[in-house]
Amino acid sequence: MMERKFNFSAGPGALPIDVLKEAQEEMLCYKDAAASVMEISHRSPQYSAITESADSILRELLGIDGSWSILYLQGGASLQFYQVPLNFLTGQKCADYLVTGTWAEGAFEQAEKIGDARIAASSVDKNHSYIPSLDSWKISEGSAYLHVTSNNTIYGTQLQSDPAVSVPMICDASSDFLSRPIEMEKYGLMYAGAQKNIGPAGVTVVLVKNEFLKRIPDGLPTMLDYRTHAKTLFHTPPVFAVYMVEKVLRWIKRLGGLDAMKTLNDKKAGLLYSKIDRTDFYQGVARSDSRSNMNVTYRLPSEDLENQFVKQAEAAGLLALKGHRSAGGIRASIYNACPVEAVEALVSFMSHFESKNG
Ligand SMILES: Cc1ncc(COP(=O)(O)O)c(C=O)c1O
Repeated sequence: MMERKFNFSAGPGALPIDVLKEAQEEMLCYKDAAASVMEISHRSPQYSAITESADSILRELLGIDGSWSILYLQGGASLQFYQVPLNFLTGQKCADYLVTGTWAEGAFEQAEKIGDARIAASSVDKNHSYIPSLDSWKISEGSAYLHVTSNNTIYGTQLQSDPAVSVPMICDASSDFLSRPIEMEKYGLMYAGAQKNIGPAGVTVVLVKNEFLKRIPDGLPTMLDYRTHAKTLFHTPPVFAVYMVEKVLRWIKRLGGLDAMKTLNDKKAGLLYSKIDRTDFYQGVARSDSRSNMNVTYRLPSEDLENQFVKQAEAAGLLALKGHRSAGGIRASIYNACPVEAVEALVSFMSHFESKNG
């Protein structure tokens, strides 16, 4: 079998090796099911135990009780861009959007199809290289919610803390979910596609306050009404993806929970940013007060050098460092499952590449 290399993919991203091994061991026979987890009913006791465990670890990690519903939906974070306003902007005066990147723009565009979506603040003037300061955000009178994107995967910026605003927040946390403690009481709903920090592609975790669900108007399409999924296991969920998420959640808990994740992620990001800051050869894309701990973006003196960097890094065992096609440059995605050794290897490769080309 080919050897595994250090993987900096922006998503689907690296999974913890322990989790992959556990799944490998269980692939043919899941516990006492005498069949793989992909071959049993989503209403079986074995699958019910998986979701019960996932729910209970999520509640413990995030400090949320039964006043929150936990949903495992399909359609990716992209479907949430539409489902959120469909449920919470329909029949309401307006909603506000913090536009800090391509995904946030996508969420805003979908909301405009439903109702009066307004831009609270935007970083488009500087190619989304910063997070607008909280005092510049305009929250409208009567706004149903403020939608924020906690981490801008493409340009590499991140909200540095959970903002305090006068309306409930709805957060797209796809690329930094469970990478640090979260003040859940500030949010009405949070969603995250699993494929970066908490599992494989195929499931989107949605956390929603039960109180918030009461605002949903009747008459929405059944599958798109959050209440359908909060009430009951309405249809076949993405069983294998949820199974993997449960394993990742147990792995996070074993490592010490969200405080431990933050310490680990601060350390990895610190190593990379201090390398970038020590030299003019590498130029960070994000403004230093807005830097992401998950997606570290930087440029080299020319596109030609960037291409060589990506190619030579791959040959040295460092995968998927090419920036997003719309942004260019280099992007190192260092989600929870990316080990410190991977980042150390990258930093050492950067020094080597600079010494040859600087
Ligand atoms: C912050 C953010 N939101 C939304 C998406 C879209 O997610 P999906 O592909 O699950 O629809 C991505 C994908 O990279 C993302 O990074």
